[in-house]
Amino acid sequence: MQASSAPAPAPARTPETQRPVAVTGIQSSGRPHLGNHLGMIRPALALAGRHEVFYFIADAHALTTQRDGEAMRRHTHELAATWLALGVDPRRMTLYRQSDVPEVFELTWVLACHTGKGLLNRAHAYKAASSANHAAGRPADHGINAGAFAYPLLMAADILALGAEVVPVGRDQKQHVEIAREVAAAFNAVHGPLLVSPKVLIDQRVAIIPGLDGRKMSKSHGNTLPVFAEVDELRTLVARIVTDSRPPEAPKDPDTCRLFALYRHLAQPAAVSAMRARYLEGGVSYREVKEELVGLLEAGFGPARIAYRALLADPAELDRVLAAGAERARGRAAPLIERIRDAVGLGAGKTGAAGGLHGGGRGAHPGMGTAGT
Ligand code: TRP
Repeated sequence: MQASSAPAPAPARTPETQRPVAVTGIQSSGRPHLGNHLGMIRPALALAGRHEVFYFIADAHALTTQRDGEAMRRHTHELAATWLALGVDPRRMTLYRQSDVPEVFELTWVLACHTGKGLLNRAHAYKAASSANHAAGRPADHGINAGAFAYPLLMAADILALGAEVVPVGRDQKQHVEIAREVAAAFNAVHGPLLVSPKVLIDQRVAIIPGLDGRKMSKSHGNTLPVFAEVDELRTLVARIVTDSRPPEAPKDPDTCRLFALYRHLAQPAAVSAMRARYLEGGVSYREVKEELVGLLEAGFGPARIAYRALLADPAELDRVLAAGAERARGRAAPLIERIRDAVGLGAGKTGAAGGLHGGGRGAHPGMGTAGT
């Protein structure tokens, strides 16, 4: 059953533009926050132009934890409106709902059958869940559904189905992209170089956005600043940021101040330098910095919040945008999935029943030979 493999194809770039593909997704489970924006959405949007970009709402990933179908659809719309309000232009970029691209699920299964279970045992999220069980004296897999275990495979399929070369993510997703590379390598070692190995792209300046309590900003820590909160809510949340008790005139350390850590990501560079100097000299009150921070959030996100509200008011239009995006994503994924089905022997194959003269029923399609193991 061994055949020689075809030469490695160049990464499959879009024919019209020859631009490399970038893809990234966000799980639809709650209101997007400043950490999502600075850590992932903003760097992902910056790739548009030089890259052919695909952004999606990872509802199937959210299904590993969400049990309320209504809420799932609502969160999907909220996230779609967020992407659009923050700058996705559907004429130049592709925005879609993961579950509208069935090719992804098909690829997940094929990848699952080529991936060692041990690779998934080592995934951080699964390890954290099972060690929490261990610490609590419960069986290792207590309460962990098989979807949560397979989470990295679905994510690998999201990326590999589009032949993406670049995956902009926050630092917490780095291992998942590395798993996608390993999965691609394992598949290619058997069937030839059909899958492109993706590179992770992490914006180092914003790799970790501190939350209100100084820990990483995260829904699970309940310390987030939602990007589209109304100004009153922002003011209340910013007021909660804990500082030390130095009086206004005292010199302060910008590098240990949680407030400054957020300010630095939102203000213009010149304002950041000026604020740093005022910290070191003394003469600035934390209250003043908090007010400035609220002002920056309002100036930065106020207009997008208005757009967001308008977008959310028309869910049918959001669904139209998502459906058009899914068409494009499927258009890109389908030919690759067809080649993969051919290579592994699912379906009748390219040459159908009449094929089968070469390699035990596999069509003679280039790039589908086995490399042997
Ligand atoms: N796991 C990612 C997160 O929680 C979301 C995600 C799903 C994703 N599939 C992806 C990100 C593919 C990048 C590429 O943030």
